[in-house]
Amino acid sequence: MSPEAIIETAGLRRVFKGHGRDQRGAVEAVAGVDLRVEAGDIFGFLGPNGAGKTTTLRILATLLPPTAGTARVAGFDVAHKPEEVRKRIGYVAQAGGSYRESTGREELVIQGRLFGMSKADAGRRAQEILDALDLSDAADRTCGTYSGGMRRRLNIGIGMVHRPVVLFLDEPTTGLDPQARARMWDEIRKLRDGGTSVFLTTHYLEEADALCDRLAIIDHGRIVAEGSPSQLKREIAGDVLTIGVDGDCDRVIELMAAQSFVREAGLEDGLVRLYVDKGDEAVPSVLRILDSHGLAPTTMNLHRPSLDDVFLKKTGRSLRESAA
Ligand SMILES: Nc1ncnc2c1ncn2[C@@H]1O[C@H](COP(=O)(O)OP(=O)(O)O)[C@@H](O)[C@H]1O
Ligand SMILES: [Mg+2]
Repeated sequence: MSPEAIIETAGLRRVFKGHGRDQRGAVEAVAGVDLRVEAGDIFGFLGPNGAGKTTTLRILATLLPPTAGTARVAGFDVAHKPEEVRKRIGYVAQAGGSYRESTGREELVIQGRLFGMSKADAGRRAQEILDALDLSDAADRTCGTYSGGMRRRLNIGIGMVHRPVVLFLDEPTTGLDPQARARMWDEIRKLRDGGTSVFLTTHYLEEADALCDRLAIIDHGRIVAEGSPSQLKREIAGDVLTIGVDGDCDRVIELMAAQSFVREAGLEDGLVRLYVDKGDEAVPSVLRILDSHGLAPTTMNLHRPSLDDVFLKKTGRSLRESAA
């Protein structure tokens, strides 16, 4: 039996209308997304700015109606049973939270009361979350005094008050320093290990790789690849060899593309990029071939495929560049 799907979408689309009769400036932010997220996973939505991540997340969280297609979240259709979906999800917006005057504890209690808990229950739940997110010491300080990482953790806590089965996190670590980011990853893993399904968006390759059980790569509103990080990287069999050339890159690409050990050759960021079966065997062969044609590389770099190579292969662009 295949595991239970906690999120399932079919042909999901969202068009933002343009202006005037010819609809100038209309944007198809989500252009036909089919997704299946299994319960108990950390599922990542990886893509550059403007790819359609937030729009998709808002549709799944019932905050925005789709233009077409269907989505089921926690067993209910977002269009027909939005109130049932809302009971079962938490949603933490991108760099959200503008409150500064209230304390962390107050924010959590208010949230609990909004979900119909008694004052006593909301207080107990607030303490539980403060302990779990290691915010007890700061619980009674105003949020304005919190560090960026603490504020993000509190936001996640606020999304967890009503014990959702699915938690949506929009770019939970954007703008955090590496230490606070690693800390946040630990918290997100703890949520998963406690049985919460987590759907997060990110434009950080390292984050998608290190944190997500499965991920979908989205570009221009379309899913271009889906799988576990290792599956996706394995799709790009072999190694990646980049070569700096002082001179005619096209000539080098042509030469290399003709070699049996080269699966694919192309140009990326001014460097010749080869996908080869075995990198360590390819390097001496490449050097020999270049030398016999009077060519010398300025740089050479061999690496295992990364998620950026997956993105590059699917879209022709580097996510590292697009995200910058
Ligand atoms: N409310 C809106 N009105 C018009 N266009 C929008 C709106 N929200 C998002 N867009 C556009 O939709 C596209 C996808 O945006 P978004 O979902 O925010 O991407 P991401 O979260 O991946 O950066 C972008 O081109 C963006 O400008
Ligand atoms: Mg976004």
